[in-house]
Amino acid sequence: MEVIICHDPDCAGEVSAAKVAQVCKEAGPGVVLGVATGSSPLKTYQNLAQMTRSGELDLSQATAFALDEYVGLPAGHPESYHEVIRRTVTEPLGLDPARVHVPDGSLAHIATAGDRYEAAIKAAGGIDVQILGLGANGHIGFNEPTSSLSSRTRVKMLTPGTRADNARFFASVDEVPKHCITQGLGTILDARHIVLVATGTVKARAVAAMIEGPLTAMCPGSVLQMHRFATVIVDEAAAGGLALGDYYRQAYSEMPAWLQVHV
Ligand code: GLP
Repeated sequence: MEVIICHDPDCAGEVSAAKVAQVCKEAGPGVVLGVATGSSPLKTYQNLAQMTRSGELDLSQATAFALDEYVGLPAGHPESYHEVIRRTVTEPLGLDPARVHVPDGSLAHIATAGDRYEAAIKAAGGIDVQILGLGANGHIGFNEPTSSLSSRTRVKMLTPGTRADNARFFASVDEVPKHCITQGLGTILDARHIVLVATGTVKARAVAAMIEGPLTAMCPGSVLQMHRFATVIVDEAAAGGLALGDYYRQAYSEMPAWLQVHV
């Protein structure tokens, strides 16, 4: 795992976007992106959007797969991840909406939604770079603690803590759905590159557990320890619980030029 400690969230947004853009350029115009909702990657998307506006990056032929969706929200609900991805990713990055996929959280089709999503990712050739945030309890996507480390896209029940965290997007916590459909930890591990962004003191414990704790389903993010090309980008506040913080800072600041070409 490559750990990059940035001084603030703006810097984390710039560095994470540069990492994602590097993979996009290597993969070519048909790059397949994995995209996350949540506040953590918003600055990443803003920087990528700027790159597309300046012509440095062209994502018009890219495909994207979202990580997760609530189950049972009416189509077009502003907090459905279909809508959040459209607002924060599809439009600003200039993606073709026909090639942006979000798990189907409609109750009528939920029994087959996971398998259909896995098949769609496979048909697209797999995900080249998966952008991730991190929940305060260590979840990635909506894979709550004790998720199977080899899980695939399926329905999960949200923890009360995650529903409380996400209540800020709804009128009250009671309106936050109890169920979600999320790519599994095994699905996420299949991405060729992973770029995770976490900022703020509220994430410090989860960041430390993910990077330095044991590999355990109690901290789903720790599964990234198994990935060959995972980059974790945090700000100083989120890095507060790391035992080896100085080592990561030194490794990044003194990285030889010949190593910097590899994500
Ligand atoms: C949500 C999403 C995750 C996100 C996480 C953290 O529940 N399903 O994909 O990474 O919580 O969100 P935030 O970045 O807003 O802290």
